[in-house]
Amino acid sequence: MLTRIKNLQEYKNVYAASVDDPESFWASQAESFTWRKKWDKTLDWDFNGPDINWFVNGKLNITENCLDRHLETRGDQVAILWEPNDPNVPTKEYTYKELHAEVCKAANALKSLGVGKGDRVCFYMPMVPELAIAVLACARIGAIHSVVFAGFSATALADRIKDATCKMVICSDFNNRGVKHIPVKKVVDDAMAMGCDSIEKVIVHKNTGDDLNMVEGRDIWWHDLVDGQSPVCEAEEMDSEDILFILYTSGSTGKPKGVVHTCGGYMVYTAFSFTNVFQYDPGDIYWCTADIGWITGHSYIIYGPLLSGATTMMFEGVPTYPDAGRFWEICEKHKVNQFYTAPTAIRALMAKGEDLPAKYDLSSLKVLGSVGEPINEEAWNWYNINIGKGNCPIVDTWWQTETGGILISPLPGITDTKPCYASYPLPGVQLVLMDSEGKEVEGNNKEGLLCIKFPWPSILRTTYGDHERCRQTYFSAYENMYFTGDGARRDEDGRYRIIGRVDDVINVSGHRMGTAEVENAINEHDNVVESAVVGYPHEIKGQGIYAYVIVNDAVTDDDEFRKEVLKIVTKEIGPIAKPDKIQIVSGLPKTRSGKIMRRILRKIASSDASNLGDVSTLLNPEVVTEIKEGALV
Ligand code: WT7
Repeated sequence: MLTRIKNLQEYKNVYAASVDDPESFWASQAESFTWRKKWDKTLDWDFNGPDINWFVNGKLNITENCLDRHLETRGDQVAILWEPNDPNVPTKEYTYKELHAEVCKAANALKSLGVGKGDRVCFYMPMVPELAIAVLACARIGAIHSVVFAGFSATALADRIKDATCKMVICSDFNNRGVKHIPVKKVVDDAMAMGCDSIEKVIVHKNTGDDLNMVEGRDIWWHDLVDGQSPVCEAEEMDSEDILFILYTSGSTGKPKGVVHTCGGYMVYTAFSFTNVFQYDPGDIYWCTADIGWITGHSYIIYGPLLSGATTMMFEGVPTYPDAGRFWEICEKHKVNQFYTAPTAIRALMAKGEDLPAKYDLSSLKVLGSVGEPINEEAWNWYNINIGKGNCPIVDTWWQTETGGILISPLPGITDTKPCYASYPLPGVQLVLMDSEGKEVEGNNKEGLLCIKFPWPSILRTTYGDHERCRQTYFSAYENMYFTGDGARRDEDGRYRIIGRVDDVINVSGHRMGTAEVENAINEHDNVVESAVVGYPHEIKGQGIYAYVIVNDAVTDDDEFRKEVLKIVTKEIGPIAKPDKIQIVSGLPKTRSGKIMRRILRKIASSDASNLGDVSTLLNPEVVTEIKEGALV
């Protein structure tokens, strides 16, 4: 049995045991799964490679653990509960038996097109059940899924398809989001026109049924392909360290990288963390509002819950449609027990007032979760009072695409909660704070750079196609440590508070973005010479995007220029990367070696320009005054 911690003493004991002897601890957790062949060695690792192997030579298939394993005990229990965008459209339910059959059919369909173990399949889909089904179908046959959030642009999609040389794209015709009707397949067509030569077939799921252009010989309807398939498909035997999926995420430099997760460790950790962080009881209805295009959706809509035999809800729509009470309406309708969302959503709904949540019966709720960015105290309190009615512990869960699962979080009802604190490490997670000189910061009431000194089972293994980049980014800052990129504070009782990124990564509405990526997009504008992008505090989004831009020819129509820049960013990345503010400047503050002083730009963007420190050593100190005076604050 997977350890489900029940009280504080047990947390302390389990944590101590997991640090004392990590291998025995994780081996005992792994025992509770179905393995085709047991592992020879629990862990083999070297952070310098990095070369990390969990459950060495173990053989398994994660879908046997998500599906087959539950058929006897809970075959008729709902596995996926789907709530549509339009509240008048009926809900859909898939029991474990039904989901198993659908996954097998889709797996056979993929096989019939020649997709097999190790092939990469790209997804560009809205939140429909077929997305989860097809993702699991890939895992069933050993194909590697690479899900791209369907808000990214054709250019961004094409980049990701090419980087992973995907064989196939699975998409929908259109996407329903609030009142919007978004042409998903059209974006795939545009991406295909950008030289995605590895793509053999595009599978199109009919979501809305609106008119569509199908390319002969390339495009296939999902229903034509899947409907007639057999509902039985033997799962492919995978090695623990075979790749399960690739998921792209932004870093401080260059283009997004494909974070690689493997089968065995990811399975054990997502199930363990799901069970403990959400204290899921059989029969509970669990709802994570994330999109499956992000790691939260992978680990805590699909894998963690299904591995645990849970009922997991998928929501197609947006929190504000038909009105800003939709989340609470759904919680009442389905008697949701665990609700997991992002601070940006809480802040947006908080702005709409307390009357909306007050209209609904939220008494089914037991645990509230938060993820993706720091949750400010005001939002935490609002969530606690208006949604949890003071009775639901809030789990502020800290983790990353690279960590695969939640690493820091209170355990609800077990450890205490404190606003703004992700609090305590989960068992097996050995946190350290480092200073900029590379020394460990010991003791409590201290701040530092957050690192982890021992592998946990779902740590990333590589970045797809570029192992050196993985080493450089995560394992080179400090010897024998995984570096998170976040700064953190440890309080007097050992709780952790995440302060935010210390690199050039910003977090806009819980979406992670590299400032360099946004700059590269802006620089595509003909009249832009150079740009610098920084984040600044934003009431709803957490961080907003502030762009300083140097132009070639004087801009006569500011508004027109702004629109052009936004259009280019939307085309290169997607609407989520659109700058909130664009300031035209004559120069950027640079050091004598030519490095942009982002610290200064960040301060100005944050209306905190009173104390910029010594700027006299800059190459061009005079621009600082100009930028300050023209700041859009
Ligand atoms: C970055 C990772 C993990 C799933 C969603 C985001 C920030 C994440 C928290 C939190 C403060 C948080 C960090 C982290 N972050 N959770 N509870 N409190 N900050 O995954 O896109 O890989 O982003 O999000 O800065 O490094 P991601």
